[in-house]
Amino acid sequence: MSATRVCSLSELEQDTALRVVVDGTAIAVVKDSEGEVHAIGDTCTHGDISLAEGFVEGETLECWAHGSAFSLLTGKPLNLPAYEPVPVFAVTIDGDDVLIDPAVTKDVN
Ligand code: FES
Repeated sequence: MSATRVCSLSELEQDTALRVVVDGTAIAVVKDSEGEVHAIGDTCTHGDISLAEGFVEGETLECWAHGSAFSLLTGKPLNLPAYEPVPVFAVTIDGDDVLIDPAVTKDVN
């Protein structure tokens, strides 16, 4: 499948995550303080919690339940209790449209 429009750039608030679902895949979309847009898997690998309900801190998204902070760049948790990474998705910006293909993950290793 090809990239799908998930939201507009202008509806993303800085340092806030937005949960979108594309083809059954839940994704947390974040515009960081530099204006860069990131997309990582929305489900915390420690529990069935939406990461988009957590807190953006710099280049991380922190799960509100037990505090694991996931890197927006690599998907890796930077602290316990989560230890498995979430996927990182490629984001395309086309004008004011934010496009994501859930089948295309970034190779971050
Ligand atoms: S459910 Fe996310 S850290 Fe526990």
